[in-house]
Amino acid sequence: MSRSESLERADRAWWKEAVVYQIYPRSFNDSDGDGVGDIPGIVEKVDYLEWLGVDVIWLCPVYDSPNRDNGYDIRDYRSIQDAFGTMADWEELLEALHARGMRLIMDLVVNHTSSEHEWFRRSRRGEGKYEGYYHWKEGHPAADADYETADGPADEVAPNNWDSIFGGPAWSYDEERGQWYLHIFDAHQPDLNWRNPDVRADVKGEIEWWLEKGIDGFRMDAIDLLSKTEGLPDGDPDDALVGSEHYSHGPRLREYLRELYDDVLSNYDAMTVGEMGMASVEEAADSIGADGDGLDMVFQFDHMNVDAGENGPWGRAEPGDWELTELKELVSRKQRRLEWDALFLSNHDVPRLVSRFGDDDRYRAESATLIATFLLTMRGTPYIYQGDEIGMTNADFRRREEIDDPQTLGTIDDLLEAGAIDSYEDVREFVNYRSRDHARTPVQWNGASGAGFTDGEPWLKVNENRSRINVERALADEDSVWHYYRRLIELRDAEDVLVYGEYDLLLPEDEQLFAYTRTLEDERALIVLNWSAEPAVVDGLGVDADDPDALVGNYDDPPTAPEGSELRPYEAVVYRLR
Ligand code: GLC
Repeated sequence: MSRSESLERADRAWWKEAVVYQIYPRSFNDSDGDGVGDIPGIVEKVDYLEWLGVDVIWLCPVYDSPNRDNGYDIRDYRSIQDAFGTMADWEELLEALHARGMRLIMDLVVNHTSSEHEWFRRSRRGEGKYEGYYHWKEGHPAADADYETADGPADEVAPNNWDSIFGGPAWSYDEERGQWYLHIFDAHQPDLNWRNPDVRADVKGEIEWWLEKGIDGFRMDAIDLLSKTEGLPDGDPDDALVGSEHYSHGPRLREYLRELYDDVLSNYDAMTVGEMGMASVEEAADSIGADGDGLDMVFQFDHMNVDAGENGPWGRAEPGDWELTELKELVSRKQRRLEWDALFLSNHDVPRLVSRFGDDDRYRAESATLIATFLLTMRGTPYIYQGDEIGMTNADFRRREEIDDPQTLGTIDDLLEAGAIDSYEDVREFVNYRSRDHARTPVQWNGASGAGFTDGEPWLKVNENRSRINVERALADEDSVWHYYRRLIELRDAEDVLVYGEYDLLLPEDEQLFAYTRTLEDERALIVLNWSAEPAVVDGLGVDADDPDALVGNYDDPPTAPEGSELRPYEAVVYRLR
């Protein structure tokens, strides 16, 4: 397959052809032995990233922050937090990436700031234009409320019944101002009041400042939460997350996104990916494209909820309970409906993909490479989360004290308070399936006690399997997960059909096989994945495949003809069809 000549120039975009690699800086590489990853540590690994073949680095927040939520609580948008280095270090990183033809995108966290941000400090004092920068309200009389809140004056409860995503109420009382403020996340992450045009002007100023410094785009954090229902009314008390109908995809969201695009983003060649944790596929579709709200793509989470149930913040009680047929349906709906998809099964907020969607024990390498095949051959921009390229797995958090994540801790506290559990031990299995900290254990560069991540005491425990699973071993072994990722990235770079080709699902009812074609004019690829730990016979693909050519597979000697073949556990093959 050659580079397709007739592919309209207008349809091409660098961010469609790119493979993105996500770095969670605290956990990536520590250059100074303080146990926390840092920017010079990333600079040391730029060659590594180039060898892997990725094109864009998404760097999670490195801005100045008190780290109540590891940088997602920004104190100053225009400076770098000390633990990560200096602005000069950041400039060096940008230069090193650009010199190798790679690009850098960063998190834009503007649903909320840190409570230590200057805007909030001035707002709580009621100072000038800052007075209305956040959602301030009087409390509700306790006597006629059917919910409770711990802080605040004795005769008051929070202004409404909304839950925080991190557990507990979405409101805290501020002594200084004598009012309550809204925080959809942690109490130290007050939500900005986007109805206020001065807030929007200031946010646009921050975006412009970074674009002028040369960054190549943004991952827009919690961007579906910017607009809240006018008056902030009570939410349905029976909802799993009370109030979310009033803050997820609120009435003015599209107007705000459009304004960011028209006034700032459209003036730059910048890529944008919006995180929309609660948006439907339809809502995500509306946000995408210049004739939508201007986002290039969206992290939409339907497929990530395939293992979530109805009952409670962490969903279904049975860890790991999900059906391949359902995953296929959810993924395929997005492939059909979204102008361009963001392809992901992991990030810094979810467990390790091989532990969740594969088999992190017997078939770790096979399932990690099968998942890689899936991510790199669907239609959209693939996102690789740090460590996935060596098949890193979930850790075992034996004690509550080993956990750092405020969401995990908040949820455990809620469960304890509700009497649903008696001790950490009752929820340990679930934490070990679901916690955000699994993604945050340090990257395993080698088998040393600090995993080559640090010479000091790591801020979060290193996974015990570091001597078996690490970069040093992976690089030395041509058959490793790492080398498979590299080969697949190379293949995707060479084959337009894998980037731009139309997606068609085959065998939708098959409970083991995930099979699909990608078609671009007369070029065609067939991808067959046995997403199970048992052998699977391929039958009834129904594609014309005279002389298929196996381009890449995760076992030696993949079947030369897909139809009628028997695939081994977690076997994945990419064919070219003639
Ligand atoms: C997003 C981030 C998550 C963070 C939250 C609040 O969901 O991905 O890590 O905690 O927003 O900023």
